Amino acid sequence: MKDFEKRVGQFLEKRRAEDNFRSLQNYAHLIDLSSNDYIGLARSGTLYQLAEEKYRKEIHKHNKNGATGSRLISGHTTLFSTIEKEIAHFHQQESALIFNSGYVANVGLISCVARKNDRIIYDELIHASMHDGMRMSKAASFSFKHNDLHDLEQQLSNGNGQQFVLVESLYSMDGDEAPLKEMAKICAKYDALMIVDEAHAIGVKGLEGRGLVYHYGIQAQCLATVVTYGKAMGCHGAAVLGPAWLKAYLINFCRSFIFSTAMPLQSLCTIQAAYDLLPSQESARIKLQNLIYFFNQKMVELCNLYSELEYLKGTNPIQILIFPDNKRIKQLASRLQGDGFNVRAILSPTVPIGKERIRICLHAFNSENEIDTFINSLNRQMKKLTL
Ligand SMILES: Cc1ncc(COP(=O)(O)O)c(C=O)c1O
Repeated sequence: MKDFEKRVGQFLEKRRAEDNFRSLQNYAHLIDLSSNDYIGLARSGTLYQLAEEKYRKEIHKHNKNGATGSRLISGHTTLFSTIEKEIAHFHQQESALIFNSGYVANVGLISCVARKNDRIIYDELIHASMHDGMRMSKAASFSFKHNDLHDLEQQLSNGNGQQFVLVESLYSMDGDEAPLKEMAKICAKYDALMIVDEAHAIGVKGLEGRGLVYHYGIQAQCLATVVTYGKAMGCHGAAVLGPAWLKAYLINFCRSFIFSTAMPLQSLCTIQAAYDLLPSQESARIKLQNLIYFFNQKMVELCNLYSELEYLKGTNPIQILIFPDNKRIKQLASRLQGDGFNVRAILSPTVPIGKERIRICLHAFNSENEIDTFINSLNRQMKKLTL
């Protein structure tokens, strides 16, 4: 134990020395410019009430707090089947299979479909959960440059056998979108199977928040679409959408689905309620879009004043401000927090060295006044840091 504690201590010390030590903090009292609650459903009393009503209606049929087992043992209920049918219908997909989280869905899906001798071609910016799925899959993996169609095609043309392509539809670290339609065409040319993670697009993008796979009508060209419920949907969990035979395969072979207790009724009811509410959230989506344009303008004006600031201007809720090196970006984030804003520094090695950033998430419930105050605070703090 002593030797192991020493080893752990060395790892932690290295983190501190590199200025990227992590600790848990509560920032709930600050203005939210960091959560994934893009359209405010997590804080919505309407969602809470609707979910509670559904729960009260269902609980007498179940009389259990927890699911008591995995879906294949004792955790399955007809409500799962009903909700999965509704989810599939909403996204115009053949089937849906609910998972306990997006992380678990990605790890389970990728490690289950990609086998030894297969090749996985992935965008260099995909989420850690997809990386972990790849590690567990035993397939060979190769990255392509972020959103670079030429590089994607180059990588696919180098391979033979079954190939998979992993992308996000809206990227969590750069806030930009994948050219999904073009990617689907390239995948079809090489008979490669595309998996799209829509964690940051569901609820925000496409008709009624159905996501970008729906928006481009490419459901049939994707092997699977992963939607997660912990972000704009304001609750928790995920689903893998795709053909019915994929669902049957996952139920039989996907270890993170098979060997984990099913989601409890409360969570299931909240997912159903969130889907019920999504179509009526159009005014929130419009408000969010207007706020993004407002932020774009203010930020461009400010960044013209500071050559060291790089702003990745985009039309999505995730806005990126690059100010290189871990120490300085941490300083800037902590000063902005001191001024009352919940913003987070994203450090290297999570992002490449020199691309350390503040990731700002805009929400339908933020106001123009909050943005104005934030820009003033950023200006004040940048003046001090660059003196
Ligand atoms: C792109 C992406 N995929 C998957 C996940 C994991 O989803 P969950 O938080 O439901 O585990 C996240 C969450 O951070 C994400 O950003």
